[in-house]
Amino acid sequence: MAKTKKVYICQNCGVESPKWIGRCPSCSEWNSYVEEVISGAVKKPIHGVRSAAVPELISEISSADQPRMNTHSREFNRILGGGIVPGSVILIGGEPGIGKSTLALQVAMRMPAVKTLYISGEESSRQIKLRADRIEHGEGDCYILCETNLEAIYTHLHNMKPGLIITDSVQTLQTDNIESPAGSVSQIRGCAAGLLRYAKETATPVLLIGHITKEGSLAGPKVLEHIVDVVLQFEGDHNHFYRVLRSSKNRYGSTSEIGLYEMQSNGLREVDNPSEILITRHEEDISGMAISAMVDGMRPFLVEIQALVSTAAYGTPQRSSTGFDLRRMSMLLAVLEKRAGFRLSSKDVFLNVAGGLKVTDPGTDLAVITAILSSDTDLPVAQNICLAGEVGLSGEIRPVGRLEQRIAEAEKMGFNKIVISSFNKKAGLRKNHKIEILQAGKVEQLIRMILKP
Ligand code: TYD
Ligand code: MG
Repeated sequence: MAKTKKVYICQNCGVESPKWIGRCPSCSEWNSYVEEVISGAVKKPIHGVRSAAVPELISEISSADQPRMNTHSREFNRILGGGIVPGSVILIGGEPGIGKSTLALQVAMRMPAVKTLYISGEESSRQIKLRADRIEHGEGDCYILCETNLEAIYTHLHNMKPGLIITDSVQTLQTDNIESPAGSVSQIRGCAAGLLRYAKETATPVLLIGHITKEGSLAGPKVLEHIVDVVLQFEGDHNHFYRVLRSSKNRYGSTSEIGLYEMQSNGLREVDNPSEILITRHEEDISGMAISAMVDGMRPFLVEIQALVSTAAYGTPQRSSTGFDLRRMSMLLAVLEKRAGFRLSSKDVFLNVAGGLKVTDPGTDLAVITAILSSDTDLPVAQNICLAGEVGLSGEIRPVGRLEQRIAEAEKMGFNKIVISSFNKKAGLRKNHKIEILQAGKVEQLIRMILKP
């Protein structure tokens, strides 16, 4: 009989300890250790367990491209690198209510000629049916199974032989081989490993849905990140409709692709042209607004940055930012104060990125300071100008990457002028741009260049 022992496992990062610890020495999380029972290893003879796998010579293994399964969703295909690879395990993480189940169900219902098994441990089949009625149908062949026991699921898998398996969520699964409760690290790890083995043996792709902790990392599934093939994060602001699907690991494609969706009353709609919805064209000139030609992953788009600068009503000025790093904004304000002589230390500054988007591209700096200056001076930025550049601590405007793509996007959206760093070599750019390219080396130069008196 297998020996069992008790260990304490950090529910955040999966580190084991023989005794309870208040703070995890590995991930520094407080109070994350939970007692779990694990079966002790059965002594195996060192020489000889029979195995079905045979060592193959690397030069003899066929490297012919495996045909990928087309998901009939452009954004989903794009983020996976061209479709689902047979036998791959894909983990989708995200906050509750962001739309993971909707996304998975939509994928399942749009895959023609693929028998999909949607295993749900969270919702009843009626609830899923109600959701399915809301979203636009395809001609998918989708079955729903409400089951959480892994052994029972195996039986269904062997009987049904689905072409795609979706489990919603991996935290609700439990296997009889492990005594810990469902949702604990050992259960999650055990169930995922079981499904992974099934996926590899039968070349069936598996989509695992995982919850995220309040800190934003995949709860428990952090321990899954290295065993699965693809890790996708579904993010967005609950008060907005835009959702971004990002990949943080992809064994079969690039991780710099992103997928953009809009949550509508009838499911998730793919966004073809993000720039069109992220910027608004105003009839009259408004101060405090600048358009940034930014890049997220490999995708260029234009986004509107809004700022409001006003005299502080109370002693300490307020600084608030939505969608842009607050510390970076403070740094940019200090640069403006010190290098360009703007008195901003006694003013309230509010910054907002339109559409509820979170931007991390340093190329948005230039639009941020332009929006702030425009609001402070109450001078509108000339229409049809967009900006792309990073701002350094000495007030210099630094060059940014993927410039050609940013310019092309600005041109496509009908902008007349784009401001870039003078350190970006114009000679390296294509000659036949219709858009006028303005270059600035310092923040002071910028002000004269684009604010309309
Ligand atoms: P859901 O997929 O249940 O989120 P998750 O599985 O990540 O917890 O979706 C949750 C939200 O999406 C819910 O608040 C309702 C909204 N929603 C729509 O706006 N339109 C739709 O067509 C559907 C199905 C959901
Ligand atoms: Mg769900």
